[in-house]
Amino acid sequence: MNDTQLHFFQDWFQHHILTFQEPDPLHQRSLDMKAAHTFRVCAAIDRIAAGLGLAENDRRIAAVTALFHDLGRFPQYQKYRTFRDPDSENHAKLSIWELNRHRVLQPLDFSERQIIRRAIFFHNRLRIPENLDPQTLLHCRLIRDADKVDILRVMAEHFQMEESMRNPVITLGLGTDTLIREEVYRLLFEGRAMSYAKLKTTNEFKVLQMSWVFDINFQPTFEILKERNDIGKIAATLPDTPLLREALNLVNDYIEKRLKDQ
Ligand SMILES: [Fe+2]
Repeated sequence: MNDTQLHFFQDWFQHHILTFQEPDPLHQRSLDMKAAHTFRVCAAIDRIAAGLGLAENDRRIAAVTALFHDLGRFPQYQKYRTFRDPDSENHAKLSIWELNRHRVLQPLDFSERQIIRRAIFFHNRLRIPENLDPQTLLHCRLIRDADKVDILRVMAEHFQMEESMRNPVITLGLGTDTLIREEVYRLLFEGRAMSYAKLKTTNEFKVLQMSWVFDINFQPTFEILKERNDIGKIAATLPDTPLLREALNLVNDYIEKRLKDQ
């Protein structure tokens, strides 16, 4: 991929999202939020890729993956008025469908197209399959790291905001009940992430997001996490219990540990 092709994709994205404009400002706000998320994921992935010292071509592939990873959010919202995949469709599949429909990746050679499509396809899975080739695996990991960094930021900002200003689409319509079942913390202590489908409350969703740290792959990502401290900001909005403190210590110790091993 060359720079001209990368710029073509960036221009195409900018124009394409305009075709999803909504007359109602409330709906437009949900789409603007996804566009802003995309641009910040592009910035994050570039920082991670640069931090890893990746070659120019891999940086461009990463940039395109980030640019298109959530493309499916636009048709998803237009059709279903939700960002909840279980109530609509898998948005990663929709992203690929949208790319294929418009033949956007056509100018690239097959192997690059395939890497980008696979990285997008697996970006929102609980786990990545084990049999991927090294370059595909690299790009799967990059987009997953960059996406998580920005989702944590969106959540931290959302929960710090005054309640009347919050956009309910962000918390996927989960209950406002403050209960956190002990098993949700227990999964975090095991260093595993819970599946979305099992969550019951918004506070459980926050604990799930704290557990994402165990799924982060690269040192430059841990640097961003430490610098921004969005996990700490999210934790500060949870009921202060011994379980929460234990969870937060575990997460912060893990970040420190990963920053130390090179
Ligand atoms: Fe996504």
